[in-house]
Amino acid sequence: MSVPIPQPPRIPFIGNVHQMDTDVPINGFMLLAKQYGEIFRIDILGRGSVSINTYALQQELSDEKRFRKFLGGAMVEARALGGDGLFTAFDEEPNWGIAHRLLMPAFNAIAIRDMFNDMQDLCDQLLLKWERFGPEHIIEPTEDYTRAALDTLALCTMSLRLNSFYTDDQPKFGTAVSDFIKECFFRANRPSILQAMMTGTNHKFYEDRQYLWSVAENIFKERKANPIAKKDLLNIMLHSEDSKTGQRLSDDAIIKNLLTFLVAGHETSSGMLSFMTYYLLRNPSTWRKLQQEVDEVTGGQRVQVHHLGKFHYLEAVMRESLRLAPTAPARAVTPREDVVLNGKYSVKAGTPCVIQAWLTHRDPAVWGPDANEFRPERMMDGKFEALPPNAWQPFGFGTRACIGRPFAWQEVLLIMSSVAQKFDLSLADPSYLLDLKQELSVKPRGLQIRARLRTSGPHLYASPSSQLLPRAAQSWSNYAKSSNHVEQSNHAGTSLVPMYTLYGSNTGTSEAFAQRIANSAPAYGFAAKLGTLDSATGNLPTDGPIVIVTASYEGLPADNAAQFIDWLTSLESNQLKGVRFAIFGCGHSDWVKTLHKIPLLCDRLLESHGGERLLAPGLGLSGKGNFFEVFDEFESNLWKVLSEKYVVTQSHFASIGFEITPVDTVATRANTLRQPDTALGTVKVNRLLTQPGHAIKRHIEFELPAGMTYRTGDYLSILPQNPPRDVQRVLTRFNVSNEQMVVLSSVGPTSLPTDQPVSLYQILLGYVELSQPATTQDLRIMSDVATTDSTRTALKEMRSSYQAKILAPRLSVLDILEKYPSSDIKLSLGIFLRMLPSMRIRQYSISSSPLWNPQHATLSISVLESPSLADKNKVFLGVGSNYLSKLSAGDRVQMSVRASHGGFHPPEDPSTPIIAFAAGSGLAPIRGFIEERAMQKRSGRDVGKIMLFFGCRDPEGDYIYKEQLDEWVELGVLDVRPAFSRAPEKSSSCKYVQDRLWENRDDVVDLFEDNAQVFICGSSRVAKGVMSKWAEILQSNDPSLSAEEATKRLEETMQGRYATDVFDV
Ligand SMILES: Cc1cc2nc3c(=O)[nH]c(=O)nc-3n(C[C@H](O)[C@H](O)[C@H](O)COP(=O)(O)OP(=O)(O)OC[C@H]3O[C@@H](n4cnc5c(N)ncnc54)[C@H](O)[C@@H]3O)c2cc1C
Ligand SMILES: NC(=O)c1ccc[n+]([C@@H]2O[C@H](COP(=O)([O-])OP(=O)(O)OC[C@H]3O[C@@H](n4cnc5c(N)ncnc54)[C@H](OP(=O)(O)O)[C@@H]3O)[C@@H](O)[C@H]2O)c1
Ligand code: HEM
Ligand SMILES: Cc1cc2nc3c(=O)[nH]c(=O)nc-3n(C[C@H](O)[C@H](O)[C@H](O)COP(=O)(O)O)c2cc1C
Repeated sequence: MSVPIPQPPRIPFIGNVHQMDTDVPINGFMLLAKQYGEIFRIDILGRGSVSINTYALQQELSDEKRFRKFLGGAMVEARALGGDGLFTAFDEEPNWGIAHRLLMPAFNAIAIRDMFNDMQDLCDQLLLKWERFGPEHIIEPTEDYTRAALDTLALCTMSLRLNSFYTDDQPKFGTAVSDFIKECFFRANRPSILQAMMTGTNHKFYEDRQYLWSVAENIFKERKANPIAKKDLLNIMLHSEDSKTGQRLSDDAIIKNLLTFLVAGHETSSGMLSFMTYYLLRNPSTWRKLQQEVDEVTGGQRVQVHHLGKFHYLEAVMRESLRLAPTAPARAVTPREDVVLNGKYSVKAGTPCVIQAWLTHRDPAVWGPDANEFRPERMMDGKFEALPPNAWQPFGFGTRACIGRPFAWQEVLLIMSSVAQKFDLSLADPSYLLDLKQELSVKPRGLQIRARLRTSGPHLYASPSSQLLPRAAQSWSNYAKSSNHVEQSNHAGTSLVPMYTLYGSNTGTSEAFAQRIANSAPAYGFAAKLGTLDSATGNLPTDGPIVIVTASYEGLPADNAAQFIDWLTSLESNQLKGVRFAIFGCGHSDWVKTLHKIPLLCDRLLESHGGERLLAPGLGLSGKGNFFEVFDEFESNLWKVLSEKYVVTQSHFASIGFEITPVDTVATRANTLRQPDTALGTVKVNRLLTQPGHAIKRHIEFELPAGMTYRTGDYLSILPQNPPRDVQRVLTRFNVSNEQMVVLSSVGPTSLPTDQPVSLYQILLGYVELSQPATTQDLRIMSDVATTDSTRTALKEMRSSYQAKILAPRLSVLDILEKYPSSDIKLSLGIFLRMLPSMRIRQYSISSSPLWNPQHATLSISVLESPSLADKNKVFLGVGSNYLSKLSAGDRVQMSVRASHGGFHPPEDPSTPIIAFAAGSGLAPIRGFIEERAMQKRSGRDVGKIMLFFGCRDPEGDYIYKEQLDEWVELGVLDVRPAFSRAPEKSSSCKYVQDRLWENRDDVVDLFEDNAQVFICGSSRVAKGVMSKWAEILQSNDPSLSAEEATKRLEETMQGRYATDVFDV
């Protein structure tokens, strides 16, 4: 029986235009496919088409007897340039047949092999450029790959040198192609009457067309006037006859095909190289394996043509990159006669069917549950050959498949092997997540890398942990400048010993600690350079001590340490002889099994490979009150050991390195130094979720910065500002006006804006944490400048009873200064600023689904505003939550999306049931899961049930999103089991979610047996409570189990079916 093909709701005349993502169309198609499933119909301005999203349908449509290539929309517009050239020809046009038969032999294996030397010529230009740039230069690889691909194509097929590497701008040809193609897509989606009125746009379109045509025409005329003997593609077209018809291509047809090759043959290959670079760097072990293979095959010699066939791993990387990121993202076919697809969907002859390779290539039915992962191993050792037929189709299918495939393959093999042989690459922003740019083909947007020669010495550079921070760093007169200061002071004749402080950090804590050590270094006789761990991959210096501060994430390294750890793990013994190191690890006791895993691994490997451990690793727990004290102790031991091991000249710590000069002018405020608009999201809604008298929770909706996308379950990182109240407290204590401008100068690296006039208010607002507990070192510094004995004694006591007097009440430096008259502790504002850690980002679970609105994301936050632990009469304000809570519609916020860890996303198959436990604002990500299922259900998909255990205090006070949850229950996607901790009588006597779990255990066990996935979100106490109650359920079913056995069995049963996202404030 025929089943209607689902279709998103249409608007009269324009159809589904509003559901299209005009910037990156495949993003829109991916979301629609999530919502509507294997197939859906869309209608753009009266033109209907069908989107094909699964392997099974792709396979069915890969049958030339029933389907033929369809040329419509933008491709028809592109015929203004390509006409009946190979790519844009209709099947039946005679020139397609002639060109196809003439040119196929030009791409046979021997012909391509003969092009190797020309290809290498251009590849060398790329390598030379990157080498000359040096290790700290930020490279836009896509631009350089485009230069290489365009020039290679022109040289190999037309014997023409375009010399794109000799211009700073992108080649004009490339820009004109890009503008022309973009406009083809717009024209295809514009009503003709509107098109006719857009005279400026039309003029530009025809101007671009004319320019491109003239380029090809000149190549053609030049060759006719100056013939050469080489058997290149142009000569084949000029001089050969079609064996079947005896006809030659007309001049006009030759020019169209020249253009076709120039256009079709460079963007796709350069995109492929760019995606490979991204995937390899995101998965450092694959990059290392590739380098190993290239080294083994070439033995260090220049890459030769005979090496290419031996790069088996590289080939697997190429296949896997093209699977995940097919740069030609879709192809269209149409049924020759009316058909019924998959035995149920009727499609009329002539209807365009768009095969979405970005979706079919990720179909779990072929690629398994890890279909979204980059795993080259699935493409080698016979596995590629064993794939089901037509599962991998980045080059199209049948007679209209890509003619340039062998050309692109050889070019990419050569370029990528040569790059891997010569450079260590790293992402300029370690937290960069793939963002797409789509024209005729797809490329990564904003991908930036650094390339360091594999044989060179150490070159550290500081690349801040968060996507948000690098921009800040750049605008804050940048780290590089600060580290130059260090070098300058060294060269100036002082006897500072080199030192390297390296960090692996996602949210900035380890980075701030590393920076603190680097700041103090000059005082102890060291010139510290600050850098990410990744920046030291392959090159650990031996001319000074190395201090590493690093975190772990689910047992894995932070984003900017992944390459380093991978390298370290791959070393052989004694390769690190001469390296002297000390390590401080940041961790959290919630991650019991992987506590401090990365710092401890570093410590072990550095030593086992011959490094000398300078002191025992310091291990701090970020959730524990004594975190800073543990760090202080480590730092003080560090300086002690270093002063014994190295000959250094020390100076007084409090007076060196950081100066502050007031400036008279009240000029433009320092907030002009904030990050560029591209990362600024806009607040749309900020509303209260709780009733008066209850702890405040709020719903905040943002419009994301342009081009930023997210998956359900991801986080939003926010760079907050301190509460103005606390900034004012500092100004009052130091008796300065809030209009005060200052110039900061620093000898060591700093994340404050130096050497330019800035507003002190802005620095205090946005660049430093004001409420962290004072460290023992801070207390020592304050003692040093205390003017009365009684104050000195009090500060001494705080040090000796640090836990009770500082950590328990969380007394900050500011709190302490406020306790005494300013004449008692004569601390300068400069030293105060230097004591403060730099502002950290705060992460929040996104509580919406992109199926609801891909450009908007919501947060559900709990506002930290409670009586201060230091003084019950004062109120403590959490920085991030209060900053967010005060935002109004229209405010702009610095933000970035971060992928969530540990599979905290809705299952790929929406029919999989879910059991979720959430308390308070822990509902955030689960709300996104439910919203996603609701959207899918409303679109006609079969969705599995979500059984939600939700904990709050009271049904009337803080039952957040109650109405919406009720709506989703009504819709049939949700079943809520609340637990009201302060009104358990209203929730079947259950106080907490774990009590409700016990109460409803039979339902839970049934759903779990029905293959449900389990998710827990909230504080760690909730996760512990749920897991121990679940173990009790197992015990109650099998009383022979001990508590330990029950826990073990639970872990086994839950394996792969359970994910938590917990964090305590
Ligand atoms: C992955 C992840 C996802 C998260 N998702 C969410 C979410 O969806 N919603 C949400 O609301 N939160 C979420 N959080 C928590 C969030 O990131 C912040 O930690 C939280 O908002 C508190 O930050 P803050 O800046 O307001 O407080 P901060 O300024 O960071 O203050 C917190 C510190 O102050 C201390 N403190 C607490 N009370 C007092 C007091 N009375 N006196 C003195 N000191 C005190 C605490 O011990 C803590 O060290 C998430 C956290 C993570 C890691
Ligand atoms: N992705 C994430 O990691 C993420 C996302 C959002 C929130 N969070 C975290 O989740 C926590 C929730 O904060 P909130 O202010 O929103 O919550 P809340 O309102 O303080 O608490 C929510 C409910 O949980 C109950 N509860 C307290 N102790 C419990 C326990 N041991 N077991 C089960 N339930 C318990 C509370 O009961 P009583 O107060 O009556 O005891 C209350 O009913 C925070 O620590 C936050 O950082 C994490
Ligand atoms: C990674 C690189 C490349 C990819 C992913 C790619 C992909 C594709 C795809 C999917 C098609 C079929 C389009 C359709 O069915 O509508 C195609 C066709 C074509 N490609 Fe490529 N291509 C690549 C490189 C090249 C190169 C280097 C050239 C030229 C040297 C080239 C020239 C062509 C031509 C001329 C066609 C049209 C063939 C015809 O219809 O007869 N391509 N390509
Ligand atoms: C999602 C997530 C996973 C974590 N995993 C671990 C872990 O496996 N082991 C550990 O010791 N700490 C873990 N932590 C705690 C962090 O390492 C710790 O908070 C650290 O201070 C963060 O440092 P950073 O700010 O420099 O990134 C995790 C924290 C989060 C948010």
